[in-house]
Amino acid sequence: MINLVLFGPPGAGKGTQSDKIKAKYELTHLSTGDLLRGEIAAGTPLGLKAKELMDQGQLVPDEVVIGMIDSKIKDHRSGNGFIFDGFPRTVAQAEALDQLMASNDISISGMVALEVDEEELTKRILKRGETSGRTDDQNEDLIRNRVQEYNNKTAPVANFYEGQGKFKSINGVGTIEEIFENACTAIESL
Ligand code: AP5
Repeated sequence: MINLVLFGPPGAGKGTQSDKIKAKYELTHLSTGDLLRGEIAAGTPLGLKAKELMDQGQLVPDEVVIGMIDSKIKDHRSGNGFIFDGFPRTVAQAEALDQLMASNDISISGMVALEVDEEELTKRILKRGETSGRTDDQNEDLIRNRVQEYNNKTAPVANFYEGQGKFKSINGVGTIEEIFENACTAIESL
């Protein structure tokens, strides 16, 4: 079983690489961003509250995303494993994830982080914003807020996994195929 945390700042390529990794290793892909956008599209109270924060580039509260992930792990725990994309995003979420996994008799294999500089991230997100319809992709100020939120609250999550000896970092700039190959090497060495 592989239980992977795919990590990196907004626009690093987590979603792009998750699609390829989940196909190769037959994993269940859990993206908290996609789950939240699903709640927004369905017009749920959770979605309405999350939209306000997402549109400002801020994180939604830990308990909201932990609750969503909890039920998904229970639903899919008998599969080949998970790829977590966009989660955990705070140290509190990482601690909660360890507990949720343990309560299902499974554990995180490790984290693979995609390293991409801010200029490249901004370029990628603005380009995607032309067609994605994502309200948080629309302007540079908002993207800067998302990167700042990442630097302040999310980057320390890497230390959490490094401290457990479960951390690999790879270059997230290059062709999608090159990055995929390096990600697979990193996953298999975890
Ligand atoms: P989320 O949906 O997780 O967004 P994100 O982390 O900001 O990441 P993105 O989806 O922007 O980028 P990505 O790394 O997946 O890159 P992608 O593959 O799309 O979160 C959105 C919001 O939800 C958050 O701001 C927060 O408010 C909330 N949220 C979500 N999870 C939360 C949590 N756990 N706790 C609290 N709040 C949470 O690639 C980007 C673009 O680049 C694409 O157009 C792609 O085609 C292109 N691209 C990909 N790879 C390459 C490459 N190698 N070269 C050139 N272009 C490339």
